[in-house]
Amino acid sequence: MQYLHFFSCISMLLLCSGMCRALACEVNDANKGIAITIEVSKSGEGQFETIQSAIDSIPPSNSQWTRIRISPGIYKEKVTIPQDKPCIFLEGAGTKLTSVEWDAHADTASSTTFASNAEDIIVKGITFKNTYNRPYDLSMASDSVSLKQAVAVGVLGDRTVFYNCSFLGVQDTLWDAYGRHFFQNCYIQGGVDFIFGNGQSIYENCVLRYSFGDYATSYNYGYLTANGRGSADDPSGFVFRRCRVIGKGTAYLGRAWNAFSRVIFVDSFLSDVVAPEGWWAWNHVGHEAFDCEVTYGNNKVAGSIYISKSGRGNFKTIQSAIDSIPPWNSQWIHIRISPGIYREKVIIPQEKTCVFLEGFGRKSTSIEWDDHEDTAASPTFTSIADNIIVKGITFKNTYNRPMDVMDVNKDNLTQAVAARILGDKSVFYHCAFMGVQDTLWDDHGRHYFHKCHIQGGVDFIFGNGQSIYEKSIIKYSIGDYGLNRSYGYITAHGRASADDPSGFVFNRCAVIGLGKAYLGRAWNTFSRVIFTNSWLSDVVEPEGWWAWNNVGHE
Ligand SMILES: *[C@@H]1O[C@H](CO)[C@@H](O)[C@H](O)[C@H]1NC(C)=O
Ligand SMILES: *[C@@H]1O[C@H](CO)[C@@H](O)[C@H](O)[C@H]1NC(C)=O
Ligand SMILES: *[C@@H]1O[C@H](CO)[C@@H](O)[C@H](O)[C@H]1NC(C)=O
Repeated sequence: MQYLHFFSCISMLLLCSGMCRALACEVNDANKGIAITIEVSKSGEGQFETIQSAIDSIPPSNSQWTRIRISPGIYKEKVTIPQDKPCIFLEGAGTKLTSVEWDAHADTASSTTFASNAEDIIVKGITFKNTYNRPYDLSMASDSVSLKQAVAVGVLGDRTVFYNCSFLGVQDTLWDAYGRHFFQNCYIQGGVDFIFGNGQSIYENCVLRYSFGDYATSYNYGYLTANGRGSADDPSGFVFRRCRVIGKGTAYLGRAWNAFSRVIFVDSFLSDVVAPEGWWAWNHVGHEAFDCEVTYGNNKVAGSIYISKSGRGNFKTIQSAIDSIPPWNSQWIHIRISPGIYREKVIIPQEKTCVFLEGFGRKSTSIEWDDHEDTAASPTFTSIADNIIVKGITFKNTYNRPMDVMDVNKDNLTQAVAARILGDKSVFYHCAFMGVQDTLWDDHGRHYFHKCHIQGGVDFIFGNGQSIYEKSIIKYSIGDYGLNRSYGYITAHGRASADDPSGFVFNRCAVIGLGKAYLGRAWNTFSRVIFTNSWLSDVVEPEGWWAWNNVGHE
């Protein structure tokens, strides 16, 4: 089952060897993962007539997946899953049929129609409403604002998932309070701060509907989100992906409830309801932090440099262009590199921030070198600065190529890195990384790779990066050389402790090639690599992973 599988993967801490082993809740394979099912029906046809009485019947510290199936109906009750009742799967008959409604509003924390306080909770196909501020048109008729915090759902437990649910309210509809949460295909409606809190959450394929316009109030602005992140090392934040923001009137995407509020909208449709400014700093006006300044009207770039091997640009080598940028530059500098093979070693030092390096496509602009003395000295391209964007360039280490000259029985491969990324906030679009052993050293920091091609045979994506690879081709190349090597390794991740946030996520990628390769080997005891929504060809070893020095500690 899709949702149980998702769970087993997010609850994994150690290397996940094919089947994930650290399950927070026991599954019963004979019964599609569910150990116990309890039926709730208002008409008396189930074991219970209220949802709360079904929850109360589950023993504390329950460790088996327990499904509470809720028949169609409007359940007028306040529902709480207490902290000591994990592993519950609350399943309604769909948002149009099963609804839970209440109207508390005395204070924010106690106003929840549904409060989920335990870990490992799945909710599906239910509408949750706080009806207090509704019908809103009556209370707003005189302009005397009587709006109150009235929460529909509060989510306070870790590892909680909502599929196909609706959240209806006006102010503070969804209190995404604490923990890691996933919302998919949900509908969330409100006017003020209607998704708020300190959750570390992903919202996917959701509809956010700003409802103030419906009531024709004199409110000029509403706020979709109010995230409460309080410090730079607080991991919380809201990510909205493939979502739709709709409604009438005007709303900010969010206001900064705290000094480090973090909300991201990506690949989403934002209708005219979104205020052009996007965000409001609230109590933090004047403290907005931009890593790199953008200049409007000039392609959002402050400076532009053109590199051409033929001498028609500002520079003939990439390194000389980078050297020309003033240290601790804080405005986006655009370096365009005309087609050609640039035989040079390139370094972006730590103080050359805010650089956008753009080639003419990875088939046209290539940077190549062949160092191999030791891993650290070998990279063709090294990027140490924060806030770097790279687009349309191939990075190659040519040392181990052509491999066909190698003695097939003598494994004389050596570490020869094409690119090493050490800076934080670095993004690569439409790039290629070519090598054989240790091609891409995704060393430290948060990185994003989109539509890239990464090729190699041994540990060819390795390091301690905290990175997302999307829509990329991962090509295992050993088979191309007819080399009779029994196994290769795509990744070697170096996560060393349970609180190290690093990890590689491959989403919508394709793993191709000839021969056989493991998805990864555990370079360290907490190595973390996840392949999701990806196509894995026959090149992938059926066992998936190799624990390397950590055999027995999976
Ligand atoms: C949610 O609803 C969509 C559309 O009706 C359906 O395709 C999907 O399978 C549902 N999700 C789950 C987890 O049941
Ligand atoms: C690998 O070894 C073979 C045979 O000894 C030699 O011909 C070849 O040049 C070596 N290749 C590399 C990349 O060192
Ligand atoms: C590769 O090596 C294995 C074991 O050393 C051997 O059994 C196999 O026949 C070899 N395959 C080829 C294509 O040389």
